[in-house]
Amino acid sequence: MTKSLPTVLITGASTGIGATYAERFARRGHDLVLVARDEARMNALADRLRQENGVAVDVLKADLTASEDLLRIEARLREDAKIGILVNNAGAASRGSFADQDSEALDKLIRLNVTAVTRLAGAVTPRFLAAGGGSIINIASVVALAPEISLGIYAATKAFVLTLSQTLQVEFGARGLYTQAVLPAATRTEIWERSGRDVNALEGVMEVGELVDAALVGFDRREAITIPPLPDAGQWEAFDAARRAMLPNFRQEHAAERYRAA
Ligand SMILES: NC(=O)c1ccc[n+]([C@@H]2O[C@H](COP(=O)([O-])OP(=O)(O)OC[C@H]3O[C@@H](n4cnc5c(N)ncnc54)[C@H](OP(=O)(O)O)[C@@H]3O)[C@@H](O)[C@H]2O)c1
Repeated sequence: MTKSLPTVLITGASTGIGATYAERFARRGHDLVLVARDEARMNALADRLRQENGVAVDVLKADLTASEDLLRIEARLREDAKIGILVNNAGAASRGSFADQDSEALDKLIRLNVTAVTRLAGAVTPRFLAAGGGSIINIASVVALAPEISLGIYAATKAFVLTLSQTLQVEFGARGLYTQAVLPAATRTEIWERSGRDVNALEGVMEVGELVDAALVGFDRREAITIPPLPDAGQWEAFDAARRAMLPNFRQEHAAERYRAA
């Protein structure tokens, strides 16, 4: 008997990277659960994917910054044993610099980019561990490594997503829960317009299909970190090795010599 493919729940599936993941996983024969606020757009995508691929597609309208909606998606992840892959993709960029944001805008971005990602991963992890397997794809960003090229708190939210992904992989990888952090650089989607920027003014912008196809190559290889635009994987490995080399030096009874008062 062949084992059926797991259902994939994708947040931010109405457009951009999330909609492209939906298309690619449908082509692979996975049933889908699409989550975002724009129900009409998701229904149009769902109709097309059902027709073209013969897969089942559920559409869940939800604002992931609203706690009742988030609770509903968490419940679905806890209860639906067919869901074996979570794509934590919904996200937004900051509008303007840190100094221009009011506290509600800051809080809202953290609710979407950090809290929702964390709570959805938290909802599904115990079930995946009990089942002995499951996958979480978290869409971070290269700005997690490059605060120099970001505005506001966007880079900080993506650094959180990167570290959370690494923590889950370290803690649960051996128990069958695979976590992948995907770090795209500039990709042609609506995120730019939505945050008041013109993507056409940028150089080196990747098309969204190419980004997701590359990320899925990393997924199939079970990479913990996938940086689709980075030509030399050795650069990431050297960076990570430098970080690891510091670890044995952190635990010290005394402050480093340079911090001791003369
Ligand atoms: N494009 C890039 O250059 C780039 C680079 C690095 C990382 N990323 C990351 O990639 C992910 C996807 O971004 P994208 O470029 O595809 O952006 P996008 O085209 O703006 O799409 C964002 C998606 O998230 C959904 N979304 C936004 N706010 C939401 C909310 N409150 N509740 C539920 N869904 C919400 C949107 O749908 P609705 O409006 O229908 O809710 C949409 O489906 C994000 O995490 C982003 O940070 C993007």
